[in-house]
Amino acid sequence: MMVCEYKPGLEGIPAAESSISFVDGQKGILEYRGIRIEELASKSTFLETAYLLIWNELPTKQQIAEFEEEVKMHRRIKYRIRDMMKSFPESGHPMDALQASAAALGLFYSRRDLHNPVYIRDAVVRLLATIPTMVAAFQLMRQGNDPVRPHDDLDYSANFLYMLNEKKPDPLAARIFDVCLILQAEHTMNASTFSARVTASTLTDPYAVVASAVGTLGGPLHGGANEEVIHMLEEIGSVSNVRPYIEDCIQRKAKIMGLGHRVYKVKDPRATILQDLAQQLFAKFGHDKYFDIAQEVERVAEEKLGHKGIYPNVDFYSGLVYRKMGIPTDLFTPIFAIARVAGWLAHWKEQLEENRIFRPTQVYNGRHEVSYTPIEQR
Ligand code: ACO
Repeated sequence: MMVCEYKPGLEGIPAAESSISFVDGQKGILEYRGIRIEELASKSTFLETAYLLIWNELPTKQQIAEFEEEVKMHRRIKYRIRDMMKSFPESGHPMDALQASAAALGLFYSRRDLHNPVYIRDAVVRLLATIPTMVAAFQLMRQGNDPVRPHDDLDYSANFLYMLNEKKPDPLAARIFDVCLILQAEHTMNASTFSARVTASTLTDPYAVVASAVGTLGGPLHGGANEEVIHMLEEIGSVSNVRPYIEDCIQRKAKIMGLGHRVYKVKDPRATILQDLAQQLFAKFGHDKYFDIAQEVERVAEEKLGHKGIYPNVDFYSGLVYRKMGIPTDLFTPIFAIARVAGWLAHWKEQLEENRIFRPTQVYNGRHEVSYTPIEQR
């Protein structure tokens, strides 16, 4: 067997062959199935993008109409899932609630028929349809309210905002939200996708695959960074505090949230699109001083850290967009999960097509031949 050098974080080590998405981190290019993210953000919808990621082609008019209808028909969650979620502690993080609820779906649909395209499509539809309902339901139930039923006249994103706020959203806000989902839908071999593929490789069910990926997305170095960005901007408090804050972080070697990326060494193209969306939102619904603070963070960070390739990533502006829509900070990462389910499912399907269970090796650096010390002598 070939022995490879150990690379912490598996940096630069391919974990799979994939045709789902492509990143050029030097040029700031992101493509889904070969289509540039800028084009999808301006022309596509989230469900169409999910279809493209999962089935490798843009759907025809009829295909997308059928897919949208199927997703719409499966948006309600079972009473037993709702009741289970009701018993979760209100103080728990919504990502933990989502992980438990996604896993619980597997209790109802445990049959595994992984080579049957009908099973795959059902699971895709069910997960895409119910994850947003579960996120909105937990939000309402932790405030002591009943969940809102999905609205049959509303499309995917508008319906989610409706279930969350109990009123129909402004069309611009709903479109911007949908674009945010497109931007967060997929991103090559990131930590949660890797986790999804490892789980998929054991041939377990897709609910376990998504639950394990949700757990991985939750950490502050991954999807959880968008929450941390808002906390950071609040802590900075004013544009004039930005420079001393950044200088202090650099001096303490502390990470500035929403900046830096393992792959991008220039500004993440999704951050550029999100910055523009934030501007559109503020133009219509009023300015936000935290946007000025964020832009100043970007300027000072570029000056101080640009030489290291540290620029805004997708999480830097997404939180500001969600915040302006009145979405609570701790729902930012669950919303990221709503989007990323599309990518995880595409990777689940791709993994099944040529599966081999993941079983890497390790570099053992522990002791050998140690004798057992009786407890009285320790
Ligand atoms: N602020 C300040 N310095 C940074 C930052 C940052 N946000 N990110 C990286 N650096 C510096 C490091 O201090 C290090 O400097 P050094 O070489 O002088 O020691 C160098 O850049 C390389 O950093 P690593 O941590 O080795 O980079 P890695 O590729 O392992 O980490 C990561 C990438 C986790 C995204 C990192 O940049 C980070 O922690 N960023 C903040 C958290 C964040 O925004 N995460 C979201 C990422 S996007 C996503 O998951 C959807």
